[in-house]
Amino acid sequence: MPVKDDFAHPFELASIKPRGKPFNFIITKHTVRPMFSFLHTLFTDVVARFGITLPSLEITDNLTKKDAAEKLMGVLSMMSARFHDAPHARTSFSPPPMFREWWNNARCNFDMVTTLLDFAYCMAIPNPRVLNKGRGNATYGEIQYPLLAHILSVLKMSSSDVFLDMGSGIGQVVLYVAATTDVRKAYGIEKDKLPATLGFKQKEYFDGIMEYFEKQQKEAHLIHESFLEVIVEPIIYEATVIFINNRKFNAELSLALNQTLMKCKSGTRIVTSKKLVERTETMKKRDKKQGEITLDDVSECVEFPKSGKVGEEKMVSWTANGCAFYLTTMK
Ligand SMILES: C[S@@+](CC[C@H](N)C(=O)[O-])C[C@H]1O[C@@H](n2cnc3c(N)ncnc32)[C@H](O)[C@@H]1O
Repeated sequence: MPVKDDFAHPFELASIKPRGKPFNFIITKHTVRPMFSFLHTLFTDVVARFGITLPSLEITDNLTKKDAAEKLMGVLSMMSARFHDAPHARTSFSPPPMFREWWNNARCNFDMVTTLLDFAYCMAIPNPRVLNKGRGNATYGEIQYPLLAHILSVLKMSSSDVFLDMGSGIGQVVLYVAATTDVRKAYGIEKDKLPATLGFKQKEYFDGIMEYFEKQQKEAHLIHESFLEVIVEPIIYEATVIFINNRKFNAELSLALNQTLMKCKSGTRIVTSKKLVERTETMKKRDKKQGEITLDDVSECVEFPKSGKVGEEKMVSWTANGCAFYLTTMK
């Protein structure tokens, strides 16, 4: 089908597995490039077994978006037709090793989840700069995956845990947790409309591509709401592990957040990029005299060590200088 200048063309890529789910997406001028790079990253070897060669990325870069979209649709139609027939063909298709690794493991490893999240991000958010318009409490920033993986390896969450990201932005932390850990549920609460809406879109692409690769994930919910609202209190109470990238929250919001965290169950573990309670020497002396009281009822903060593995990585999107995270447990 010829592509118009301003196009939005729904496409269904057939599954290569007998009862597999297809991947549905929309080809627009924004999704042509991420779709091409995705095919190059994951499908070059697979389609070669079907005698299909993907056009090089440089070629597609030199084409107009409209021509590139036409080329993409041509390749995808060919792939879909061959994939559709593959399970029924008499000569069985012998998959390359990468194919087996990607399709046959039920859960995502680090490379898989980051590849699929990056893909969903590029498909849903053509211009990430729009996210960086806010200041103060609305400052947008993303924790980088190597640091997140490190934090999760320390937390060792199980099926009795419920994870909550308070201020979840576009929700990638929630999706990562749902795809790689054994938590019962993962929630994200985001107040700002733009990241929340882009997050819903990203989740849609992520769920679709996870299904295509037959990857299992845990229940995940992204909620567009302020975490200070009464309506989300049951979720805060249900959570056993809370993640808050609160480094840029101002004093007023930090205070309100601390009051909200009083609704947590005892034993809830809270990971933050700014200490929840900076205990001064006077406070420490008072603690000793009077015993601990109310909100300050958190066990001593544990700073995540900058382990060799994550130490050299850029850890959050807004600074290359690194950013410590702290773990506190509600008493
Ligand atoms: C630094 S971003 C963190 C995004 C994501 N959690 C991460 O670490 O990659 C902080 C987010 O908190 C959100 N936020 C600030 N106040 C909030 C509130 N009262 N309720 C929900 N979200 C809030 C901001 O809009 C922003 O998207």
